[in-house]
Amino acid sequence: MEQNIDQVGAAALREIDSAATPDDVQEANVKYLGRKGLLTQLLRAVAQLSPEARPAAGRRANQVKQQIETACRSALARLEADEGVERIDVSLPGRRHALGSLHPLTQITYRICDIFTRMGFEVVEGPEVESDYYNFEALNIPKNHPARDMQDTFYVSEEIVLRTHTSPTQPRVMEKRQPPVRIIAPGKVYRCDSDITHTPMFHQVEGLLVDENVSFADLKGTLTSFVHQMFDPQTRLRFRPSFFPFTEPSAEVDILCVICRGEGCRVCKQTGWLEILGSGMVHPAVLENVGYDTARVTGFAFGMGVERIAMLKYGIDDIRKNFENDVRYLKQF
Ligand code: PHE
Repeated sequence: MEQNIDQVGAAALREIDSAATPDDVQEANVKYLGRKGLLTQLLRAVAQLSPEARPAAGRRANQVKQQIETACRSALARLEADEGVERIDVSLPGRRHALGSLHPLTQITYRICDIFTRMGFEVVEGPEVESDYYNFEALNIPKNHPARDMQDTFYVSEEIVLRTHTSPTQPRVMEKRQPPVRIIAPGKVYRCDSDITHTPMFHQVEGLLVDENVSFADLKGTLTSFVHQMFDPQTRLRFRPSFFPFTEPSAEVDILCVICRGEGCRVCKQTGWLEILGSGMVHPAVLENVGYDTARVTGFAFGMGVERIAMLKYGIDDIRKNFENDVRYLKQF
């Protein structure tokens, strides 16, 4: 009898072990423990045994019954967990992590630097907290010049200012190097001014080239090539006479209005043209201040506003949007 019980038990455990689905387990459960189950029948048979044989056989049968029940429970748990895995729809799209991106002003700055480094310019940087000397004096801006007015310049102290332009990098670089010098200098500048086209901090990129035989034609060629790469090769530009204390002659560069193509509109104030940068031949006084031989070398310089170029390139109408950190705005670039 006990041998019989053990055989049925072993068969039951084998079947449960090899069950592939929860239904297989249920089936085995019924087959062995159901009302007409194989083990159930043996348990009934135990009741018919002689009083001497009954206790041992009964104990054995109950042990096997428990083993089968335990095996069924754990097999069900295992198979149901597996089924959970199978229920995942692998064709569903995954969850994406939000990707960061470069600020539009950074993108434009990189693009400007890229265009000029391909032409042989080297990128340098100067300090934002600058001395009166480099910001003004070395650049031939005399003490009574209107650009020094308290309205425009943030003074840290009598002799220290927040730089009002990137031009102080010109004398800083020239003091340390001998010609040929070919640099561009991107960075932040500060002016006490705030409305829809001005913020107290904005960005410029300065350019400087000093060598023998540098002429205004080199300036025109370099900036024309830049504009054609930055906007598109069809963009028309004009050099308009202007004044800066540190260049002579000086010119501002305008491009044909990107909005109205020269027809005249609100953005270009009906002129058909948009100013994008200031430039000129480096003033001899600036070269003399850094000890260069003005009989031997000449140079050109230019300075452009990064916000201005970004606004024209992307059609942005309010400069302050660049500094609000509104992700909905930033995501568009
Ligand atoms: N520094 C001038 C400005 O901020 C721009 C400029 C740079 C003009 C170099 C001429 C040469 O307006």
